Amino acid sequence: MEKTITVLPGDGIGLEVVKATTAVLDKTAELYGHSFKYQYADIGGASIDKHDNPLPQETIDTCLNSDGVLLGAVGGPKWDNLPGDKRPEKGLLGIRKALNLFANLRPVTGHESLTDSSTLRKEVVDNVDLMIVRELTGGLYFGEPQERREVDGEEAAVDTLQYKKSEIERIVRQAFELAQVRSKKLTSVDKANVLESSRLWREVAEEVSKDYPDVELDHMLVDNAAMQLIRDPKQFDVVVTENMFGDILSDEASMLTGSLGMLPSASIGSETPGLYEPVHGSAPDIAGQGKANPLAAISSAAMMLKYSFGLHEEAAAIDRAVSTVLTDGHRTGDIAKEGEDVLSTDDMLEKVLQAL
Ligand code: NAI
Ligand code: MG
Repeated sequence: MEKTITVLPGDGIGLEVVKATTAVLDKTAELYGHSFKYQYADIGGASIDKHDNPLPQETIDTCLNSDGVLLGAVGGPKWDNLPGDKRPEKGLLGIRKALNLFANLRPVTGHESLTDSSTLRKEVVDNVDLMIVRELTGGLYFGEPQERREVDGEEAAVDTLQYKKSEIERIVRQAFELAQVRSKKLTSVDKANVLESSRLWREVAEEVSKDYPDVELDHMLVDNAAMQLIRDPKQFDVVVTENMFGDILSDEASMLTGSLGMLPSASIGSETPGLYEPVHGSAPDIAGQGKANPLAAISSAAMMLKYSFGLHEEAAAIDRAVSTVLTDGHRTGDIAKEGEDVLSTDDMLEKVLQAL
């Protein structure tokens, strides 16, 4: 299979983890007889330096003209004082919107040998394996009006939580499809006791569920879901929810595994190429020192193979390789305990390539 991948290294450790990831993709291509071609483009701070723009049109066009996008991370102290619409993060929001990536998939997979880096008890997080599906292009973050206004003679502010039926339907459908190939259990999270948008969400979820009779659907209020994620995360398989609830719950859930350096994500639309990136940022504190954990980015590439290219066996091989290096006790600084050997990014990459 021949695929063209747009690579957006971005800033800080983004460059380092993306470099390790393309090496893993190359090895996978070699082992399974595929050919992955890379086209590099600018985003974030690096792009501001070069083009005075965090997301040049050329970058969008390059992404649209490929089969999948691999992103490192954007941002850093160098650009922190720029105005909101000129900042590196604008590049990230812009590319998600430009590619119409309405579904953000964040798998939370606990690795047995890492459970003692979680703040929760071992038996609670051992082998936790769930997937949060967050709606990414609607809800409070995009609803209009979003403005300051005068109310009763004083300053006030308003945000709007709006969802169209079609927006709910496509994200819920996506979640059902995922649940079908996992353990056939879907939890839709809302605040239907208070919010009208949540009552519509629940109605649409029920309607869509008729097309997926093999998947068990239940509904949970978001405040309860926040509590249940900590109390008993293993009760969940696929969780689907609106933009802001998903933002908060997915950050909460990420801590079940104990390390930011481990978590991949996928953002997908319907006809555009998907975007795959580690959940972590550009880590300016360790950038350029060869200390970054590349496993989140590598696992993101595995998600690309699975969701954009349909290469399930190859994706599973990468996931297994990551699992093997952890079981064998190989650690970068972020996941090492006192007294354990600390590997560099390149050494960790070597271990993954060997395991593959
Ligand atoms: P961060 O995720 O970059 O770093 C948080 C802490 O985790 C740091 O101590 C860092 O060294 C460590 N860490 C993160 N990833 C790691 C890895 N792969 N291996 C080892 N250690 C790792 O978040 P922070 O510090 O809040 O933000 C730094 C910059 O990154 C900011 O400019 C922020 O805006 C940006 N950012 C970008 C994101 C993106 O591009 N998706 C997401 C989050 C933050
Ligand atoms: Mg967040």
